Amino acid sequence: MDRQTQLLAAAREQGLDLLALVVGANLFYLTGLPFHAGERLTIALLRTDGRGAGFVLPAMEAARVEQTSLIPFTLYPWDDSQPAREALARCVGGLGGNQARVGIESGLMRVFELRALEGAIGRAEFVDAGGVFSSLRRVKDVHELEIMQEAARMIDLSLEKLLPRIKIGMTEREVAGMWMVEILATGAEGLSFESIVASGPNAASPHHTPGDRRLAEGDLLILDGGARHKGYASDITRTVAVGKVSDQCRRIYEVVKGGNAAGRGAVMPGVTGHQIDAAARKVIEDAGYGKEFLHRTGHGLGLDVHEPPYIAPGEKFPLPIGAVFTIEPGVYVNGVAGVRIEDDVVVTQGGGRSLTEFTRELIEVG
Ligand code: CO
Ligand code: CO
Repeated sequence: MDRQTQLLAAAREQGLDLLALVVGANLFYLTGLPFHAGERLTIALLRTDGRGAGFVLPAMEAARVEQTSLIPFTLYPWDDSQPAREALARCVGGLGGNQARVGIESGLMRVFELRALEGAIGRAEFVDAGGVFSSLRRVKDVHELEIMQEAARMIDLSLEKLLPRIKIGMTEREVAGMWMVEILATGAEGLSFESIVASGPNAASPHHTPGDRRLAEGDLLILDGGARHKGYASDITRTVAVGKVSDQCRRIYEVVKGGNAAGRGAVMPGVTGHQIDAAARKVIEDAGYGKEFLHRTGHGLGLDVHEPPYIAPGEKFPLPIGAVFTIEPGVYVNGVAGVRIEDDVVVTQGGGRSLTEFTRELIEVG
């Protein structure tokens, strides 16, 4: 079954008559169309019985969609002389059929888009359809896995090039800038997200924004970044030593490395995010740093940097072969230092296989 057929079947199972998609990863997944989420109304409407699909979009995008979309649409272009709302009304009318329950992406759709839909199909009930997509996107096919492996290879390579260039006295922002250049030099189409470069006490904050602090002898330095390739993200974290670091820093590093290995080792088809999180967390708790592990163990990865499945307490969904997610335990000692080691792992028949392969031994830079 192709993606569109599977998706519409899943939507019907949830009692949806129509699916309304805005610019984002789900639309890309279905159509292969990369769009920039601007202020111009862009909505695809699909009948879940497969009997019609309409696309309301700015007129200047029409030719591109017609030529490159993986699935056929009836286009309803609009421009300054034909308002978007009229195009949407024509699209809704053209689709006909039952439009009582409309699936929307409630984590993504913006207010002006929902208002436009409400104006066009006022009596409809708008229901979150996020689960329809996540159930499909959770399992990566062979083609997606090849792309993700390449995105992981790119971020590994960028780290290899970056580390020898890091010197004591550089600011976090300078390091982030150098890393961006190295990521793009691998042929990546962009960064998965703005890299985190956190040094010394700043590394104790998991989502630190790179700033003016200069690297100093004895710092632990957290580097968290990703390369985007053909729409898919990689996401790696390595923590390196700037010069010689204290015994305390080395101890924390070894604890987190053990947690990362335990998390990866717990991956098997059918285990849950809860179980994998517990395996990583136990190593860190047993070493006395449970309270310093401030976040969940990982998140799903694909077209979005954070997507289901989550590797966290309470996640009871059995993970299927082909699911890809991060394993990224960390220990954060307030005011002193932090360590995080993150890999991208795919579930295979024989267990977890890491797409990221950069060394997990503590490397000295500077
Ligand atoms: Co990361
Ligand atoms: Co991550």
